[in-house]
This record gives sequence, structure tokens and C-alpha cells, in this order.
Amino acid sequence: MTKQDKIEILILDDEKQFTEELSEFFKNSGFISFEANTELAAKEILAVHDIDLFILDVRLPGVNGLDILKEVKVQFPVMEVIVVSAHGDMDTVIKAMRLGAFDYLRKPFRHIDMQITIERTQKYLLMQRRLKHLEERNSLISKTLEKKIDRQFIGVSSKILRVFEQALTAANYPEANVLITGESGTGKENIARIIHYSSSRKDHLFCAVNSSAITESLLESEFFGHKKGSFTGAINDKMGFFEVCHQGTLFLDEIADMPVNLQTKILRATEEKVITRVGDTKTIQTDFRIVSATNHDIEQSVAEKKFRLDLLHRLNTLHIHIPPLRERPEDIRPLLHHFVTDYATRFNKPNIQVSEKVFEMLSKYDFPGNVRELKNMAERAIILSKSTLLGTDDFPVKQQKATEKMPKDEMSDLKMIEIKMIQNALKNCNYNQKAAAEMLDISRNAFIRKMEKYNIAIKKSE
Ligand SMILES: Nc1ncnc2c1ncn2[C@@H]1O[C@H](COP(=O)(O)OP(=O)(O)O)[C@@H](O)[C@H]1O
Ligand SMILES: [Mg+2]
Repeated sequence: MTKQDKIEILILDDEKQFTEELSEFFKNSGFISFEANTELAAKEILAVHDIDLFILDVRLPGVNGLDILKEVKVQFPVMEVIVVSAHGDMDTVIKAMRLGAFDYLRKPFRHIDMQITIERTQKYLLMQRRLKHLEERNSLISKTLEKKIDRQFIGVSSKILRVFEQALTAANYPEANVLITGESGTGKENIARIIHYSSSRKDHLFCAVNSSAITESLLESEFFGHKKGSFTGAINDKMGFFEVCHQGTLFLDEIADMPVNLQTKILRATEEKVITRVGDTKTIQTDFRIVSATNHDIEQSVAEKKFRLDLLHRLNTLHIHIPPLRERPEDIRPLLHHFVTDYATRFNKPNIQVSEKVFEMLSKYDFPGNVRELKNMAERAIILSKSTLLGTDDFPVKQQKATEKMPKDEMSDLKMIEIKMIQNALKNCNYNQKAAAEMLDISRNAFIRKMEKYNIAIKKSE
């Protein structure tokens, strides 16, 4: 046992022989033990030592042991108390347990009884310590993240500074739901994290969920949890997202793609702050804030009856819109600097500079993939460049015309735009499909399906 694992025990009893004997027994069992025969002596020890377990005889001359119990539970809430009472005095025992005693022993007792009680308490105390340690570690992690997040918000344009200001306002209202809109890659999830880590919820979880990435039949159980045996495959009780992020933030990404029946269930959960696990009847209270995001015109989805208007009203108590990067070109320079420095450090390529021509060229580019695209460009340039000065050749952004092979009247404008986006993404990611899919913020499978549908070649020559 290390020093840290040692349990420190204090015994208070007016019978000196009893405290001596018990103390001896504890020391022989590997504990650190203190004795006191008066309330005053006990309090002096409590004041200077970090006592884990207090064995308190509630029948002390002149004082009510239960009053001492009440007092120490307030003053030392993490310390556990075992009360010692007279045989037959069940009334006192019940009162003591109600006041927060961990356990009780009735005098006279055998050492074996004491040993069992102490072992049980010890296990509990060690668990408590471990838990405390974990909690401390978690808050340390969130502090580290917080710092990291600070550094990750880059931007100088008045448009993005307004977004940042709105995010901080949202952080100050931790009960209000927030809807973030903006094209793919504009930084919606980034802002959602900034809101979470700047709010009073920051020591609890930020849980990011994209419902379109979850198999439809599992959606309800993922969100609400399930009871063991409620369906094939439910081999254990499981918490859902709403429970996991209790006191934290639930980030719902791409809400426009959410199936309507899930929307109904989510609406109810947000209104009532109460959920029921699949296959269970018990209700569970949970306190969460929803930050949601979409790159669709959600009003349009409402008009098409694909999204519930009442849910939209619930989710957009606060609304933050992030303008696309092409509408705030002032941000390109600081963002590119940031990403280049970041990847140069990561890939151990010091002293990398960016030619002024690159900024000039990028300021005219329309960035369909927004900040994500710029970030990917920086990564690619750093990886592939042989020189320490990055030039325009390292940033292949020449825009492609939409495919001219298919007759125009067969395609809607939407399809044309989609094809153009896919071709651009592929080109900018050096024909790496995975990277291109990421850039467009769709799954790799969906990306491949689209390529097949539009007959887009993977080859570099065209
Ligand atoms: N203002 C910003 N400062 C620094 N990094 C940003 C900023 N906006 C976006 N990013 C980065 O760009 C990438 C895409 O952002 P993300 O939040 O995932 O976009 P969205 O959710 O809108 O698709 C992420 O790696 C994110 O960290
Ligand atoms: Mg996203």
C-alpha cells in the first residue's frame, strides 16, 4: 500500500481502554489510527489530520453524539462516519444513518465485526478517491482543451468577430438552445465547442452526434439508452446521449437529415428534460443544452415537411449564422498562417513561408469547402512541398467547369453544382477520395456513390 492508499482513522470514545485496544487493532491491520476520549480532543485531531473514517461512539457523557455527527458531516463532507451505539438502541442508529453515517456497530462487538465493517468502508473510500482523481483529471483535460480552443478560433473580419461575440453570449446562457447555420466547413462545430467550453457546462461532456451516421433502427436507443434485453443485441443496460451529456452540451450535427419520428422524440425530451430508456418505464431527469447545426436551408426543410416547425422553434432560441469564407476574405490570411504554422510544427518542417502571390490568388478563390478546404490545402502543401517557400503551385485551386460531357438539359442546376463540388474537392485533395469526402463533410461511402452516379473519373488526367 502506498502512503496515498493509507486510510486514516479517528476513534472517539470516552472509554480509554476501548480506544486503545481498537487503535492497536487498526495499526496492526495497516491503517493510520488516532484516538480521542473527549469531543475537544477529537476536534483537534480533525483540524490537523486528513481523516478518512471517523468511528464515533454516540453515547458520550454530557454531549449528544448525534450533534457531533451532524456537525462533522457538514464540516468534512467527504469523511465517512461509523457510529457505535448500545445494543437495543435502534432509534439512535436510525437517526444516525439518516444524518449520513456510513454504517453502525453495536457494543459490545467482536473484532471480526469491526474488520468486516472497516473492509467495506475501505473499499468505498478507495473508490471515492479514485473517482475524485478521475474528476480532477477530467477537469484538467477540459482546461487543456479550453486553452487549445482559445488558440483555435482564428479570424479578424467583422463578420467572424460578430459570430465569436454571439458564441460568448450563448455561453453565458447555458440553458438556451442554440442553432448554428452555415455552409459545410465554415466552423459550426468549432463554434459549438467554443460555446460549451466557455460555459458553466464545461466540466461536463460535449457530446457531438450526427444522426445521419447512425443506423436508423438504432437511433432511439443511441439517444435514449436502453434496458438490457429490450431488443436483440441489448445485452446490457445502456445510457443514451441525453443521459451521457447530463449537465453538458449535446451537439446535434446536420439536423436537417434527422428522421421525423426521431424529431418528435427529441422535441419531447427537450420540452420535458426527462427521458425513458428503450424497454424501460422509469423516467430519468437529465439537464442538457442542445447546440445544433445545419448547412441546409432549414426553413425550406420545414416548408417541405421534412423538419418539424415546433422542434425548430425549440432549437433556435439563439441563432448564430457563420458566413462562408468567400464573404470574409480578410480571414484567409490569418487562417492560412495558423494552419501552415500548425502543420509545419506537426510535420517537423520549420521556417516555412507563404508567398504573397498565394494570398493574392486565394483571396479570389471562392472556397466551396470553406475553412475546412483551406485547412486541407495547407496540410497538403506542407506535406508535398519541397521548398520552404510555398508558392501558388502548392495550392492547386484552379476552378473546374462543370462537366460538359453530359447534355445540359438532362441535369438540374443542383446536379451541376454537386458535380462541380466533387471534382473540385478531388482536385484539391490530390485525388484522395477520403480527403475529398472529408472536405465536403460527407461519408466516404456517400462520396463514392456520388462519383459513380455522376460517372466521375478518379484519374488525374482530364
Ligand atoms: N475560425 C476558425 N479558426 C480556426 N479553425 C477553424 C475556424 N473555423 C473552422 N476551423 C477549422 O476548420 C475545420 C472545419 O470546421 P468545422 O467546425 O468542422 O466546420 P462545420 O461544422 O461547419 O462543417 C475544423 O478543423 C475547424 O477546426
Ligand atoms: Mg461539421
